[in-house]
Formats: sequence, C-alpha cells, structure tokens
Amino acid sequence: MASPVPSLGQLVSDAICLFKKNFGDEAPKIAACAPGRVNLIGEHTDYNQGYVLPMALSLVTVVVGSASSGQEATIVTASEEADEPRKVDLTLPVEGFPLSPGLPHWANYVKGVMDHYRACPLPGFRAVVVSSVPLGSGLSSSASLEVAFYTFLQQLRPDDGDNLSKAIACQQAEHTHAGVPCGIMDQLVSVLGMEGHALLIDCRSLESIPVPLTDAGLVFLITNSNVKHSLASSEYALRRAQCEKAASILRKPSLRDATMNDLEAQESRAQLDDVTYRRACHVIGEICRTLKAAESLKRGAYQEFGKLMVESHNSLRDLYEVSCKDLDDLVCAAMEVEGVFGSRMTGGGFGGCTITLLKDHAIDRTIQNIQERYSGTPTFYVATPSEGARALKLS
Ligand code: GLA
Repeated sequence: MASPVPSLGQLVSDAICLFKKNFGDEAPKIAACAPGRVNLIGEHTDYNQGYVLPMALSLVTVVVGSASSGQEATIVTASEEADEPRKVDLTLPVEGFPLSPGLPHWANYVKGVMDHYRACPLPGFRAVVVSSVPLGSGLSSSASLEVAFYTFLQQLRPDDGDNLSKAIACQQAEHTHAGVPCGIMDQLVSVLGMEGHALLIDCRSLESIPVPLTDAGLVFLITNSNVKHSLASSEYALRRAQCEKAASILRKPSLRDATMNDLEAQESRAQLDDVTYRRACHVIGEICRTLKAAESLKRGAYQEFGKLMVESHNSLRDLYEVSCKDLDDLVCAAMEVEGVFGSRMTGGGFGGCTITLLKDHAIDRTIQNIQERYSGTPTFYVATPSEGARALKLS
C-alpha cells in the first residue's frame, strides 16, 4: 500500500495547535505552503543550464504565524527528524549583518531565506513549520521549507511578487546557509508547480512549459529507499565542479552548449581525463533525453518515455556514479513487473527515492514485488502533480 499523505487541512490544523501551544493560545494570522517535488527525468542537468522535467507533489511544508512587536523572530518546527532545539529565537537580519549558519541545522534554511528575502525591513514574527515531505529523501524537503517560508514572509512584508526572483533567492539560501551548491530545479518547481502537470524547465532561460499528466490509466509511483548516504552533499559539489571543468576544457560556457561531437573530438579526448569525460557524457546525453522524454509524454508514448527513464538511470549509475545498490535494486524490482514502463533514481542520488511509470492496474503487484525483492524497508507514494507555493487563508 502507498503511504497516506496527510491533507493540507490536517497539516494546517496541526500547525495551528502547535502555534497556540508555544505562543500562549493566540491563533496565528497568516499561513503559506509549498510543495516538495519529484523529478521525472533530467538529473544533474539544472546546474549545467540544461532541461529538467519535475512535478510538484501533494507532500507540502506549511508555515503559520503572526507578526509580533520587537526585533526578533521565533520559529518552531514540528519535525521529529529535525535536530534540537526545535524552537529558535533569531535576531532579524539587518543590512551588512546577515544571519550566520550554525546549529540547529534545520534553522539554517530559515535563516538563509530571511537573509535573501527581497524586501526589508522584516517585522518581528512568530512562526511554526509543519511538513509532510520526508526529510532527506530526495523529494526536496529543503526547497519546500525555503519556498514555504519565503511565501510566509511575503504575507508579512510583501516583496514585488516576482516568482523567478523568489526561486533564485531560495536557491541562494541553500547555497549560503546549507552549503549545497544546488541548481534551480527544486525551488523553481516548488514555486511554479501546476496541478495535473509536470514542468519542462529550461534552466538557462528559466522558462517552463507545462506538460499535462492527465491519463487516468497511468501512475507515477515514488519508492523511498529510506537510505541516506552522508556522501551526498560532498559528492554533489564534486560533480558540479567536474562539469564546470569539462565545460571549460571544451571551451563552452556550460555543458548545455556542448554536443557529443564536441566531446568525442580528438582534441577533447586528449585533454579530458576518464572521470571528467564520463560526467560530461552523462550530462550531454541526459539533456537530450529530457527533451525527447517530454515529447513522448505529450504524445502518450509511454513505452518510449519508460525506456528513456531506464537509460537515464543507467547513465546516472555508470557515468555519473550517483546511484547506489539500494536504488539499483529498486529499479530492477520495478522493471520485473508487467505494466511498468520505466523506473529510475530521482533527485541528487546516494539514497533517496526512485520514480516509476506504470499502468494503474499494476500498482499493487509492483509494490508487492519491490517489497519482496528489496532488502530494506521501502515506503511508497503515488505522485500527484500538484500546485506550487501559495498563501493560505486561515478561517
Ligand atoms: C538536487 C539539487 C537539484 C538538482 C538535483 C539533481 O535535488 O537540489 O538542484 O541538481 O539534485 O538533478
């Protein structure tokens, strides 16, 4: 069985309860939410200015709160996986005196968003964060926290409302306060997500094209391996550096501008070491696959889409080397089932989730086969393409 996803109403009411418990029975006045995401294809292409095809999920982070007098912000997280303390007092950032990252880790995302917020000064406030996005699972719990928090601040002290700048500010928060040099995909789809659609995002122009996912006979199934490897963030930064090195050897502004012919040219082969060559080969191939995959999805060519998913997984495993045995085993187990079109790891890698495209009548058999074949304890979610960040009305 797929795990039940708590409704937005339930999360908001949990957040209100926690707010009253922490701040003396007064009800919060404003609320906002932002979704996690799953990427269908286009992995490790965003920071190479390529294409990605993610969808926003019904797993969301909710922030409720109120303005308060004074120059302080007090924020409480309900997450049991967050490090202690789960209640922090922060001085409001003033120009030239940003909030430095530190402990607890979870608060760094909040501090980063406050520092990069695009209107000032912020008033004092109290807030509570509640989330249904599993932490560290590759479903962008951090981007959903950043974007939900930014959207909350927009109710307190409006900025100009520009969505692209909002996603970029949240990405900056992740760079400066979480130390992860991530691309723009997670924050952008959390801001722009559309119900019933995936988004084909051009990470160079930041244009996005909605791709409808309305075939009732189809399901995208997320399988969480429930493993997290500590390597993830150091290896992520290393991959990004390797891509930049490859682009510079190929004399291109980014790998988006390179072709397989450029890569195979005699001069390039002579200068690229084997690892850098393979990293570039993945990125150049994956950018092409993502465009083809979006086309096949539009045409309802699911076999073709599924094949591209598997090619993407193999490339991430063999050329980019960001998969792991757990993810490979989950993909293999899914692919054994009749009615499954394709399966691949999704997100940064080194643990986290896989995404599988299948016929809806094959869902129980697929879950059962994965449970039998996989040595770990997986959890499952049916991916429902959902709306992006928004302010919520509190009655
Ligand atoms: C993480 C990053 C994204 C993207 C993916 C890999 O989720 O936050 O920017 O690079 O990894 O596709």
